[in-house]
Amino acid sequence: MNPRLVIDDEGVGRIVFDDLERPHNILTREVLETLDQVVGEAEGAARNGALRALVVLSARPASFIAGADVNAIAAIEDRGAAIQAARDGQALYGRIAALPVPTLAAVRGICLGGGTELALSCDYRVADDGGHTRIGLPEVQLGILPGWGGTTRLPGLLGLSAALKVMLSGKPLRASRARRVGLVDRVLPTQQFEQRSLALARALARGESESLGGAGRSRRGRGLAAGPRGRRTLGSRLLDGTPPGRALVLRTARRQVLKRTGGHYPAPLKILEVVRKGWGRSVAERLELEARAVGELAVSSECKNLLFLFQLREAARKGPWAPSGRAADVGKLAVIGAGPMGGGIAQVAAYNNIRVRMKDIHHEAVAGGLAHARSIFDAAVGRRSLRRREAARRMRLISGGVDYAGVGRAEVVVEAVVERLPVKEAVLRDVEAVVAPDAVIASNTSSLSIDRMAAALERPGRFAGMHFFNPVHRMPLVEVVRGAKTSDDAVETLAALAVRLGKVPVITRDAPGFLVNRILGPCLNEAGHLLDEGWDGHAVDRAWKRFGMPMGPYRLIDEVGIDVAGHAGQTMTEAFGDRMAPAPALVALAGTERLGRKSGRGFYRYAKGREKSFDPSVYAEMQLSTARSRPDPAHVLDRLVLVMINEAARVLEERVVRSAADVDLGMVMGTGFAPFRGGLLKYADDRGVADVAASLAALSRTCGDRYAPVPLVEELARIGGTFHGTFPAAKSAARP
Ligand code: NAI
Repeated sequence: MNPRLVIDDEGVGRIVFDDLERPHNILTREVLETLDQVVGEAEGAARNGALRALVVLSARPASFIAGADVNAIAAIEDRGAAIQAARDGQALYGRIAALPVPTLAAVRGICLGGGTELALSCDYRVADDGGHTRIGLPEVQLGILPGWGGTTRLPGLLGLSAALKVMLSGKPLRASRARRVGLVDRVLPTQQFEQRSLALARALARGESESLGGAGRSRRGRGLAAGPRGRRTLGSRLLDGTPPGRALVLRTARRQVLKRTGGHYPAPLKILEVVRKGWGRSVAERLELEARAVGELAVSSECKNLLFLFQLREAARKGPWAPSGRAADVGKLAVIGAGPMGGGIAQVAAYNNIRVRMKDIHHEAVAGGLAHARSIFDAAVGRRSLRRREAARRMRLISGGVDYAGVGRAEVVVEAVVERLPVKEAVLRDVEAVVAPDAVIASNTSSLSIDRMAAALERPGRFAGMHFFNPVHRMPLVEVVRGAKTSDDAVETLAALAVRLGKVPVITRDAPGFLVNRILGPCLNEAGHLLDEGWDGHAVDRAWKRFGMPMGPYRLIDEVGIDVAGHAGQTMTEAFGDRMAPAPALVALAGTERLGRKSGRGFYRYAKGREKSFDPSVYAEMQLSTARSRPDPAHVLDRLVLVMINEAARVLEERVVRSAADVDLGMVMGTGFAPFRGGLLKYADDRGVADVAASLAALSRTCGDRYAPVPLVEELARIGGTFHGTFPAAKSAARP
């Protein structure tokens, strides 16, 4: 039975969660039904005196409760059902909060969403200080809010400012941080965590709460009336403790949310609304506000799309490779080339506890690669997401040199040297000569052909592409590129490694630009055509951001590097001919000294790497007039997005990837395509492929043949089909 209740002779009861079928404890419908029974048993035992204190814990060391069942949330179709689901959860947790005995949540491992709300309904919370513990309310990232009492209970416990930070960011906290803000009362050492938690419960059963710092604390508290428990500064006490202070906190938070989200995400605004309207009201009223907000959010398109992406992402990370445990086999990685990419790859590997040998031809380059990795670790320490000692330990997993010493022992070698075919071929041959026959060799090329490189090798079956994005530690996507001769085993090893590095793998065929650059290329080029036509560049960037993109196309070109983008454009033109021919404005710019952000000047001006302002003098550099017209945003959006949809349709026609899900994951994870839209092809499906086809046809008449809808788009428009319906995500690692 999961969960189950066990009561010992001293009257200490344990509700133990232990899902044997899943990697984490999840609050599925069945689990909630069982919990309902178990709480009933606890109520009975408390009434007849058999239960004197209760501990909630998990039998699994790495997972307390990872939250509610996301599939169940995704399946909710109407508002009424969503409100009812929230009320049911609140009622169940309300019964735990109302138990007439002291209750303690002993949190070890992942504790998220409904798991955290369950812990909040207990009187006390303790957490294991082991590295696995993370406690948070990530609902906002899925477009909803903590609806099982979380939005109601958290502000009472943490104070307004800290509670908003936890709920609006959705980011889970480590145990020590959770203790600091008051989310947990004590942090216990990993060793004997359960025994110590039980000892505390025994003390509670005897009426002693001092060891939890709670002498005399109101038992009615449960995060509602007891007052904030965290260490708080005078400033935050003043802000949270007075009506004008709270109004200021809420106003500031709202402004920050709007700035960060462009108003595209309703969930954080709803969290603020529920907290604001509920302040000072009864618990029942606040819970009802919370439930009604869940009703509105759960059926919104934003929530549906975020859940859709979450499911795609989880499926890609599980893939057929995850259960095999193959990634666990990679104990040692080698990286050849210690530039920004090589150093970045070494850092994520070491961060994930994999030993790395980094090789370059110059000592200075090796030192540079190590310094790059160290700076990323230092930044993590600065953000307090990693302890200094732990960062130093992981950094020590990286060693470097100018010879092949140690490379031969690696199970996987990632080549990240300069982007020149003869150099790569020579390096790959050298690597093949020193590694074990079953080692996998991968190239991090962004534009060269995997099959061309494979031709230089004795064992092409053990070779593939592994395309990381820049900056490696931030970008969640890895394209695993399958060459014609690459074995399934090599693909799966690299995909599993990507998952172990915390990334989302998408498997692509060996075709120019692979997936993401192939689709993004025409969009950036189209931005060049818009300049040639006389539109205002800054206004185009703004329109694209308002559509929900992280940055406009010119800002993105600056980020990639004008030289790098130009080079990529050339490769694409060679591969695909006229329709990818670079816009004259971009060709003119490629010959100048403006290289984008790295040189301090591109379409924008930068100081110390930070964007300052759009630079109108860029027009003269492109030999264009500075007199610019303001574009119609709808026209700009269609120009930029439709050209990508048409290219994505080609990618599917040519089977570069196998599903629309792969395209959407690639574009969201690789370019930040507006997540609330669910991805590029989800946007196309929602807009209607018939409308996409008609708009493309209209643009092809005014802007040129590159807009002519490809046969797949025309066919889907004709039969009323969708991309996702026609190219569903496959269950197996079938070849693309
Ligand atoms: P980089 O050119 O800055 O660094 C390459 C490093 O390789 C240099 O330290 C160089 O000394 C070293 N190297 C050259 N020949 C070597 C050899 N024979 N043996 C060992 N090391 C050698 O390049 P970056 O930016 O780090 O990129 C590396 C690879 O990753 C390239 O193939 C690039 O196309 C690809 N890539 C780059 C991205 C980017 O945004 N920079 C994004 C994705 C892929």
